[in-house]
Amino acid sequence: IPVDPFDLVIFGATGDLARRKILPALYRRDLAGQLPDEARIIGTARAALDDDTWQGEIRHAILEHVPADRIESAALERFLARLGYVRLDATGEDGWQRLASLIRPGVVQAYYFSVGPGLFGDLARGLHRHGMNREGCRIVVEKPFGHDLGSARALNATLAAHFDEQQIYRIDHYLGKETVQNLMAVRFGNMLFEPLWNAQYVDHIQITVAEMVGVAGRGGYYDKSGAMRDMVQNHMMQLLCLIAMEPPYAFEPDAVRDEKLKVIRALDAVEPGDIVRGQYAAGNGQAGYAEDAAIPSSRTETFIALKAHVSNWRWKGTPFYLRTGKRLRARTSEIAITFKDPPHSIFGEQEGQKSNVLVIRLQPNEGIKLKVTIKEPGPGGMRLIEVPLDMSFAQALGPGAEDIADAYERLIMDVIRGNQTLFMRGDEVEAAWAWTDPVIAAWEARADRPKPYDPGSSGPEDALMLMHRDGRRWREIRP
Ligand code: BG6
Repeated sequence: IPVDPFDLVIFGATGDLARRKILPALYRRDLAGQLPDEARIIGTARAALDDDTWQGEIRHAILEHVPADRIESAALERFLARLGYVRLDATGEDGWQRLASLIRPGVVQAYYFSVGPGLFGDLARGLHRHGMNREGCRIVVEKPFGHDLGSARALNATLAAHFDEQQIYRIDHYLGKETVQNLMAVRFGNMLFEPLWNAQYVDHIQITVAEMVGVAGRGGYYDKSGAMRDMVQNHMMQLLCLIAMEPPYAFEPDAVRDEKLKVIRALDAVEPGDIVRGQYAAGNGQAGYAEDAAIPSSRTETFIALKAHVSNWRWKGTPFYLRTGKRLRARTSEIAITFKDPPHSIFGEQEGQKSNVLVIRLQPNEGIKLKVTIKEPGPGGMRLIEVPLDMSFAQALGPGAEDIADAYERLIMDVIRGNQTLFMRGDEVEAAWAWTDPVIAAWEARADRPKPYDPGSSGPEDALMLMHRDGRRWREIRP
């Protein structure tokens, strides 16, 4: 079903995110028949381009970033014809009048701030000055939403001066991932798991987001962030919230976000001994972080493992182990919920009896796996083995399931539809920073260096210890 007619303005239209994610996502929605004839996209940036040149650039970007079997030339031309370009100076006056004159009344108006947070204030004020912050219009802002609690608060205040919270869409693209939403479907669409979903039955939870890429080319941004700000404060935190939250009364924006906020507020401060930071070294013919970032003595972490505690009735006593890093052995993101052992084994000591584990695989090969204990088939007596009940979505749902929409496709359409459920509210972002800040402050004060780890490994040895000393083990990072 097509969405309502819209004017979508992209600030930062010549930037990497616009080329790599936003415009390819819009093209794919157009291909799927979701954009109405009256949908228009206006790119703005400082470069002196005209409509034709920008369309040409975006044609290249789409050919580069959309799989060849999704390119249909008629659809591509139709999509490109929707694009217009306005040269605009975010911090000055150039271009604003022209932009304002192009915005049509009576259609959904959305403004995508695909720029650094340093420009959010200028853009918000510019829209206000030129009468574009009309009722019902929306702004979309990218991460990083600030650098710490203070800067996030300042950003929230700046945006709030010109827009209501209902108009602000803070993106965390992890919330747009298919399987991340499936987390909620699995938890709240089944009776099976929820009764066991608490400290009485769950031994621990592991959340892993492992990447193979390094940070070559983004060192300028990354070195000031590190894994804690780049991944933990936002993506990992959102995953933790969806796992830990109470059932919202409805799948509605504030119902869901209220519950997530309660989880963040219930997080204990992390003990310094419960964190391991790492930095990838050179190896396998690849540069190390210092060289990638061109900052030889950098103390920025590209890997982090930590133990978190959610102090509430449901979770007191069940640790959440979080781990994320670059240049690891495989690209894999998953959440594993390990249940406690049965209180008593009627089969005596049996090697094959393992704890139940529910693994929710976010990417790649999205799916869900439940490890259960059964009897080994055959006449050998009551010997127990562990087998997986394995459901890969591609297999279970058949052709088409592999063509899962990119997170950005879903999120941008939600902006047009006016649905904020998968976007972060201002108080949520602030609470996440309030938890992150002291951790960062503590290691800045200690001035120690992150532990080096080999590219293609599972991170520094110390990260293994973080679980070993609790008598537990990380799951292997496997493709
Ligand atoms: C981004 C981070 O938000 O998420 C990147 O800035 C990271 O450092 C990326 O690589 C991971 O996203 P995905 O969708 O590839 O898992």
